[in-house]
Amino acid sequence: MKNSKIYDWTPERMNSLEAKTFVITGANAGAGYAATEILLSKGATVVMLNRNKDKTKQAIENLKEELGTDIQVSFIHLDLANLASVKKGAAEVLNKVPKIDALLCNAAVAQIAKREYTTDGFESQLGINHYGHFLLTNLLFDRIEQSQGRIVIVSSEGYKMGLKTIQFGDMNFEHNYNPMNTYCHSKLAQMIFGYELQQRIQKTKKEVKVYVCHPGASRTSLINEKASRRDRILFSIMSLLPIVQSAEKGAYPEVMCATEESLPIAAYYGPTGTMNWSGPVGACEMEDFVLNREIAQQLWEVSEKATQCVWNL
Ligand SMILES: NC(=O)c1ccc[n+]([C@@H]2O[C@H](COP(=O)([O-])OP(=O)(O)OC[C@H]3O[C@@H](n4cnc5c(N)ncnc54)[C@H](OP(=O)(O)O)[C@@H]3O)[C@@H](O)[C@H]2O)c1
Repeated sequence: MKNSKIYDWTPERMNSLEAKTFVITGANAGAGYAATEILLSKGATVVMLNRNKDKTKQAIENLKEELGTDIQVSFIHLDLANLASVKKGAAEVLNKVPKIDALLCNAAVAQIAKREYTTDGFESQLGINHYGHFLLTNLLFDRIEQSQGRIVIVSSEGYKMGLKTIQFGDMNFEHNYNPMNTYCHSKLAQMIFGYELQQRIQKTKKEVKVYVCHPGASRTSLINEKASRRDRILFSIMSLLPIVQSAEKGAYPEVMCATEESLPIAAYYGPTGTMNWSGPVGACEMEDFVLNREIAQQLWEVSEKATQCVWNL
């Protein structure tokens, strides 16, 4: 996909979002928190799907301090590392949220130094970043469709830094675990899923738009105590570089994808400056291997089996 159109999107372009509802994972920190703040500042209702109750309580207090106590923000507990929790959280969303204008699949873990497994036995980066969101999107899809809403997949430029394909023979990286490669594998899986979902929806009359984006390089808590000392030091040095941007700017692509009218779906959005780390938000170039349909269909089947869900698409 070679589309380098620059939009230079900023939140100033946004109209009022009153009457719009956004559901977002991983909203208590980093780009997810910043996206939540931008959406709330325009009058939207935001439902945070987070795993950490204490951090969420603090995040909501901070948002109220920044934006006022009448903001429409709420929290549903959901741990993407546990499929039962995803099901429970999604059921609560369906119970409490009548309309979803956009689901933002934002949460992630990255560069976990020592291989970890989710509750269901998946390598944690693939399990949380891809399988958790795959199931969540499936469970909320009908509500999003009824709302003529959007699905926003937040990926990473890392998609092209790892294996550049899906390792179907060893999805858990039992034989070649590497914190970075395995993270990149999970972000590639998310993108492949996003574009495959787009393709499948286009064959139906369903009015759901799927967008894929990345936040560039943003100062967030993504590389934390679970990463190696070396990776943490590298990330903090990198964060001092002027081409690394704030978490707020890192949130722009996902907010744009969730809100911008008439935004084409056949694109990969993010900052378009040096190495796509920061700079004007627009459509970035994307490597063709993301759009390999054979791999996409195999990944779809593997993901349905892993999460025990079935898509009617
Ligand atoms: N920062 C960058 O430079 C960069 C670059 C490329 C892509 N990205 C992508 O940008 C997105 C946002 O990341 P960020 O940089 O803002 O990182 P962040 O500050 O670490 O935020 C990640 C969020 O995901 C949540 N999360 C992690 N595991 C979860 C789970 N099992 N269930 C539910 N929520 C979970 C975290 O919650 P806890 O607080 O509970 O951990 C946190 O709220 C991610 O998709 C990431 O891959 C970031």
